[in-house]
Amino acid sequence: MRIILLGAPGSGKGTQAEKIVNHYKINHISTGDLLRAEVAANTELGVQAKAIMDAGGLVSDDIVLGMIEKRLQEDTAQGFMLDGFPRTLPQAQSLDAMLTQLGQPIDIVIFFDVDYGEIMQRLLARKRADDTEATIRKRLEVYEAQTAPLIDYYKAKGNLRTVQGVGEVEAIAQRIYQILDDIR
Ligand code: AP5
Repeated sequence: MRIILLGAPGSGKGTQAEKIVNHYKINHISTGDLLRAEVAANTELGVQAKAIMDAGGLVSDDIVLGMIEKRLQEDTAQGFMLDGFPRTLPQAQSLDAMLTQLGQPIDIVIFFDVDYGEIMQRLLARKRADDTEATIRKRLEVYEAQTAPLIDYYKAKGNLRTVQGVGEVEAIAQRIYQILDDIR
């Protein structure tokens, strides 16, 4: 099973990703987690990425694609779930090319539908380094301009499914399992 989780910052991708990987035993690939690991290890890439992440911007496509390509070539035979990637049209197009080459096309894209008022409340309550009010606003602007167009991109491919992302975490997980059980 090969899945993409698509949605605004704070829409619950990471929370549901944890449940999905436990339920279906597939690999979880989160570009946010990969970048935070680089920051924590104080690598050159991490130092560059930290400033961008703290300001609510997007790390360059080249850096992110390099990380993803490496990860996809590792242990993805059992299937994988991409969380926080792709986030721009060039990332989506490059991903398509990589997966075509690997013979592992995406089965389904789950889009988390959550309004921005709810997102602001969730993220202000969480208090991650990039969860200040100004940074969240910037992340939402960047999402709107660069990531939201991917909804139409995947709709046109015919594999986008929308999940209402508000309510109990477990209830949302059940909605997702219903969709994923159909493609298993
Ligand atoms: P990333 O880590 O991907 O952050 P994000 O997309 O902004 O996502 P979040 O982790 O904030 O939200 P989420 O949707 O995972 O929600 P979560 O489950 O955590 O990226 C961070 C940065 O890295 C980016 O800003 C960018 O700079 C860089 N980056 C990453 N990928 C990149 C890429 N591909 N290209 C370029 N740059 C990239 O939930 C949020 C909160 O809500 C939690 O506290 C949670 O407990 C709570 N919550 C979850 N579900 C519910 C619910 N149903 N009800 C109430 N609360 C809930």
